[in-house]
Amino acid sequence: MSQVSPRIRNRILRIISWILPVHPSPDSWFKKRINQINPSSKYSTLFHEEKMGCLKWSDYSTIYDELFQNFQNRENLRILEIGVLEGGSQSILKKYFHASSIIFGIDINPNCLNLDTGTNIRIGDATDKNFLTEIVGEMGGIDLVIDDGSHLSSHQKKTFEILFPQLSEGGLYIVEDLEHSYLLESKGIPFSPNTFWNQSKRTTELLNNEFRRYKKRFTLKINASELFSIKFYPQIIAFSKGKRSTPSIVVTENYRPH
Ligand SMILES: C[S@@+](CC[C@H](N)C(=O)[O-])C[C@H]1O[C@@H](n2cnc3c(N)ncnc32)[C@H](O)[C@@H]1O
Repeated sequence: MSQVSPRIRNRILRIISWILPVHPSPDSWFKKRINQINPSSKYSTLFHEEKMGCLKWSDYSTIYDELFQNFQNRENLRILEIGVLEGGSQSILKKYFHASSIIFGIDINPNCLNLDTGTNIRIGDATDKNFLTEIVGEMGGIDLVIDDGSHLSSHQKKTFEILFPQLSEGGLYIVEDLEHSYLLESKGIPFSPNTFWNQSKRTTELLNNEFRRYKKRFTLKINASELFSIKFYPQIIAFSKGKRSTPSIVVTENYRPH
């Protein structure tokens, strides 16, 4: 639909959204935008002080502070953000984490190379396996990924399936702006099993892999034994990587079997 004019495109999307109970585009929220992110222990302060352009949903400050807690003081943390746009988010990440952190941002738009974020910007497609593997090689591995790229479910899935296996043990993979799983503009149909949100819900089955005797369809394709947890937040999902042992029951010394 990118060849038709925005006016026609919006009209078509609006008609489809009358028929299907889905949202046509994020425009209505954008018109109601506010300039106060929710107060939080750290992210909100950096967001309000940031001079470069950055756009987030209001809850992200508290969600990030919770998710970043175990990482914020770690030395040599390797962070990859997918989607740079105006550079504000890269600049905030640089201030948020330890000064020794290795921060990379990738974007398909070459104009991002002109941004003065103080981080490492590289140009390429987040669904290109060779490009991503080269970047991870240049970074010396990855501990934290934030996918804020095209927001198309098919891209989010492809990038996740390439990068999650390359994430370090204990690493965290965040996908944000998952309202796009519900937006027609991003080919998001909420009741389709192929949206990233719905595939992630089904991927929770991998956490109980040892107890299911049936094959689950539409999960993200990763090694179940490397998935430690999946956390769902408003518009954000975070996958943590960690080896799980084969489930075994443990009892205290004085436990009496019933
Ligand atoms: C939502 S913006 C990123 C915003 C930024 N993270 C922030 O918080 O300020 C999405 C960016 O992803 C880039 N993008 C879109 N498709 C991409 C792809 N396939 N690979 C890499 N970047 C892509 C766009 O050029 C755009 O700059």
